[in-house]
Amino acid sequence: MTLSSVLLVLLQVCSLQLMVAAMPKCQLQGDLVMSTHHLLRDLGEEFPVHCRVLNTNISFPDSAFPAKTTNHPQCRQALWVVYESLREAGQIFGDHELPVGEGGVTWDNAKLEDFQNLQFRLLEEGSCLSRVSGSGVLSSYFSNVTAVLQQQESAACGWMALRRDLLRVLATGLQKHCTCFTWRDGHKCRDHAQ
Ligand SMILES: *[C@@H]1O[C@H](CO)[C@@H](O)[C@H](O)[C@H]1NC(C)=O
Ligand SMILES: *[C@@H]1O[C@H](CO)[C@@H](O)[C@H](O)[C@H]1NC(C)=O
Repeated sequence: MTLSSVLLVLLQVCSLQLMVAAMPKCQLQGDLVMSTHHLLRDLGEEFPVHCRVLNTNISFPDSAFPAKTTNHPQCRQALWVVYESLREAGQIFGDHELPVGEGGVTWDNAKLEDFQNLQFRLLEEGSCLSRVSGSGVLSSYFSNVTAVLQQQESAACGWMALRRDLLRVLATGLQKHCTCFTWRDGHKCRDHAQ
């Protein structure tokens, strides 16, 4: 081998290592997801009874979650449901105004802001999850939510339903698929027999 071909090989090895180092880790921190859940839970009242009429339009497809997460691909699927729900919800928050005033949404603004900051952090952290090809039921669900939000009479209930369902997604992910998340030391995942 000539010196230049040795150098070429070395160069390739180096750039490969750089690529590996630059690749985002495909994970979500459970502790952050839990804080996100708690902020969302604490920012307002529970889901109002009068909004239940919209349950036929907005009902989260639980089948989006894998039944079991005993292996890596199933875990990625479960994390994807959490990531994708946060991403779609973020999109909705970006594109639509919360209805305020009479009959509007009265959420704690400071908590809402903290929630959104964590939401963006999680979206950054889990950005590689966007490459998982998940089921189409989620996007169908979110277009239903958007349709309800866009009508003035149903907008407030639509937001409440979005919050209710997002809470359930985060809670389900954390409980049933706890081991799929990364955790700071000391967190114990309870065994959910599946
Ligand atoms: C969307 O809404 C329609 C009725 O408006 C309903 O039949 C369908 O199941 C909904 N899809 C999802 C995923 O919620
Ligand atoms: C709920 O779904 C029904 C049936 O698809 C539709 O006629 C109605 O307009 C929807 N309601 C809202 C508020 O989007």
